[in-house]
Amino acid sequence: MTAESGPLAVITGANRGLGLGLTRQLTARGYAVVAGCRSPENADELRRAGPIAVVGVDTADADPIMSSRLGSMTVNFGHDLGYNTSKAALNVATVVLAKELGERGVVCVTVHPGWVRTDMGGPAAPLSVDESTGPLAELACASAHVRVDQLTCEFFV
Ligand SMILES: NC(=O)c1ccc[n+]([C@@H]2O[C@H](COP(=O)([O-])OP(=O)(O)OC[C@H]3O[C@@H](n4cnc5c(N)ncnc54)[C@H](OP(=O)(O)O)[C@@H]3O)[C@@H](O)[C@H]2O)c1
Repeated sequence: MTAESGPLAVITGANRGLGLGLTRQLTARGYAVVAGCRSPENADELRRAGPIAVVGVDTADADPIMSSRLGSMTVNFGHDLGYNTSKAALNVATVVLAKELGERGVVCVTVHPGWVRTDMGGPAAPLSVDESTGPLAELACASAHVRVDQLTCEFFV
């Protein structure tokens, strides 16, 4: 797999839940995907998702690139201090990275996927994985064509 073969996406937590859904969505849109998961030897479903390269990634050793509405300073859903704090930190990391990497033309965005029926979201969540990751994939495709100098930094709640 080479970057010359088309747009390239790197997805962590790609073996299940939203990561697996996003892998399927982006491969269907022609992306080559480098799919990170903690146990590549057990990622059979992921390997069936399309033309992907499966690599071992533990984000305890690297920065995750996902967010949640629970990181908002103004919306107070739930009371999981550790989870909410980690998502708020991720929002700050995105702002800092957007400023640092913007000069090199790299677009950094953080999105809330909605409340989704995954192992984490549980069966009561209103959104399916496809309903969440379809728009996420569209956003990822659109972001690849955004001019950095046109970006504003806003929080939506
Ligand atoms: N579902 C929702 O409603 C919802 C709402 C808002 C935000 N989010 C965010 O969306 C992201 C994905 O959530 P999900 O619903 O897809 O969760 P999930 O179904 O529980 O899947 C979690 C994924 O993260 C991987 N993972 C966990 N710790 C990791 C680590 N240290 N290094 C690498 N991978 C790790 C898991 O891998 P293993 O299989 O190896 O454990 C799994 O692939 C999370 O950041 C979550 O906070 C979800």
